Amino acid sequence: MKNILIIGSAGQIGSELTRELRKRYGNDNVVATDIAPEKFKDELKAGPIEALDILDTQKLADLVRKYKIDTIYNLAALLSATAEAKPQLAWKIGLYGHFGVLEVARELGTAVFFPSSIGSFGPTTPHDNTPQDVIQRPNTMYGVTKVSAELLGDYYHKRFGVDSRGVRFPGIISNVTLPGGGTTDYAVEIYYAAVQTGKFTCPLKAGTFLDMMYMPDALHAAISIMEANPDKLVHHNGFNVTAMSFDPEIIYKAIKKRIPDFVMDYDVEPIKQGIADSWPNKMDDSAAREEWGWKPNWDLDSMTDDMLKVLSERFKK
Ligand code: SER
Repeated sequence: MKNILIIGSAGQIGSELTRELRKRYGNDNVVATDIAPEKFKDELKAGPIEALDILDTQKLADLVRKYKIDTIYNLAALLSATAEAKPQLAWKIGLYGHFGVLEVARELGTAVFFPSSIGSFGPTTPHDNTPQDVIQRPNTMYGVTKVSAELLGDYYHKRFGVDSRGVRFPGIISNVTLPGGGTTDYAVEIYYAAVQTGKFTCPLKAGTFLDMMYMPDALHAAISIMEANPDKLVHHNGFNVTAMSFDPEIIYKAIKKRIPDFVMDYDVEPIKQGIADSWPNKMDDSAAREEWGWKPNWDLDSMTDDMLKVLSERFKK
């Protein structure tokens, strides 16, 4: 990777990935793009920024030529619950959008990173130690777009030699840009609530286990897979990666240990609960460990310490 273009730089992962890639590759060599560039935080203006709607394939190709891009990170997506509310738009962004990215990659010879998800699995997938290669058949539009984009990436690799790679992210927990409309968002919101009001109402039932990861590990995964030696890769797209698995009670207790007055109750949102119930409890990420040395650095305790430290500092009364 020398010259990188990120689609969705104003989003939850994009905002931090842009910053991290610029640290490693230089401000001028990482182009931040988003459909809503007015949302860019000031620090993103340290390098090139461009307005880009992922459906505008012509403009994407023009930017790839203009900045001599060799790697595209496509982070444009609607998260799972929003995608259920707007399935047609989710399909357009997730599938037509990614098809355009792969076509530009084929014509102009760039590599592509695609973030698939635990959402690419479905109710018939084994939920515990979910293997790398297993039945997927998701029943959400988010999942349909994710699994289709994984397959499309594999196809473009085999048929046209496009260097398409990616991971299946679990819920990502961060303290810079909030996610929105995702099923795993509760695991971010609970920290903000603990610090800001001391109370949280959880939209998922106790006992709903999901894979999760702290943002620094997610950035590390997204960069390491693209830097990995291609000769060692058996898979290319949709590597399972995880760092921890917990249910609402476990994360609540981890916070309460540090903020004893913190209280949580439940008001289950049926759409989110239905989505969460169709996803794995815990994935097996041994293929990523074996093929490109994936290893997370953060667990629930270290992440909780860090999240509460950062947010308490920010919202100090
Ligand atoms: N965080 C995503 C969501 O909840 C899952 O990949 O939609």
